[in-house]
Amino acid sequence: MNINNEIKERVKYIDEVINDYLPKEEGHQAPVIEAMNYSILAGGKRLRPLIMKTVFNMFSNDKDSDEKIRPFIAAIEMVHTYSLVHDDLPAMDDDKYRRGKLTTHAKYGEALGVLAGDGLLNYAFETALKAFDVPDVSKTDVITALKVLFGKAGIYGMIGGQTLDVVSNGMNLSEEQLDFIFRLKTSALIEASMMVGAVMADAGKENILNIEKAARLIGLAFQIQDDVLDVTGSFEEIGKPILSDEKNKKTTFVSLKGLDISKKTVNRMSNEAVQIIRELECDNTSERDFLVELVMSLVNRRS
Ligand code: IPE
Ligand code: IPE
Ligand code: MG
Ligand code: MG
Ligand code: MG
Repeated sequence: MNINNEIKERVKYIDEVINDYLPKEEGHQAPVIEAMNYSILAGGKRLRPLIMKTVFNMFSNDKDSDEKIRPFIAAIEMVHTYSLVHDDLPAMDDDKYRRGKLTTHAKYGEALGVLAGDGLLNYAFETALKAFDVPDVSKTDVITALKVLFGKAGIYGMIGGQTLDVVSNGMNLSEEQLDFIFRLKTSALIEASMMVGAVMADAGKENILNIEKAARLIGLAFQIQDDVLDVTGSFEEIGKPILSDEKNKKTTFVSLKGLDISKKTVNRMSNEAVQIIRELECDNTSERDFLVELVMSLVNRRS
């Protein structure tokens, strides 16, 4: 199967898992639940759950044991989607389209946009906690995975990166500051995805550390390519407005280094990540091969 079809097949599975955990749109709080479900069902590449499940498969020796990773698959996409819902708010990047559809606040109003983001983040926590209900799950693994996921999402992770990103609109940033922003706003959730997969499959400390390093590079490359697409992409391809960074007077990798160096850096960092992944000792090497192909397919992504 070629890589794109393989990804499509796997995303079908991811979407089924996410669907299983979505809250029902009922009660007086139905409006916020509708806005939450709208945001998460709008599509997206599902990259974070995809790499989480792939890393889990690499190290898990029981093929039928996906029960213990399922809550985390849904939870990571909830956290990611909340970060996008808030990122698009008028107070932040002020964007009206996402995943080819109106952004949550553009469709439901700003108050529900804020609440839908809050709701997704809290529901991510409620969903991840369901891992404790899985029979024979290691409680220690679940606790470690929860620490990783919500640590990487927080002020020392994604929120921290978004903070410097928004307070520095209109300012010239150094390479070091931009690296801080990218490591936190984007790499942190990619690190969480891959590390949680490894933790829940009991991959061992050394593997988890190497996975964190690879994920950091994947996240940096991913964000640089996102900056490239903001300039070179089209709305049809990326499903969000182009030139959003210019509108917000952001320092991006492209504005700092130019397109040529940006593209070369995406390539270099992805290759470095792949080298680390290839050296991981795991049971299911075909899953490792898939991860390598997936990472390389992101280098020239157009969406
Ligand atoms: C967008 O993430 C935000 C960034 C970190 C660049 P994605 O490009 O993964 O967005 P979706 O999930 O596919 O919509
Ligand atoms: C956002 O970076 C990363 C998040 C944590 C949401 P961007 O602001 O560049 O993401 P897009 O381009 O709106 O998806
Ligand atoms: Mg932003
Ligand atoms: Mg944005
Ligand atoms: Mg962007």
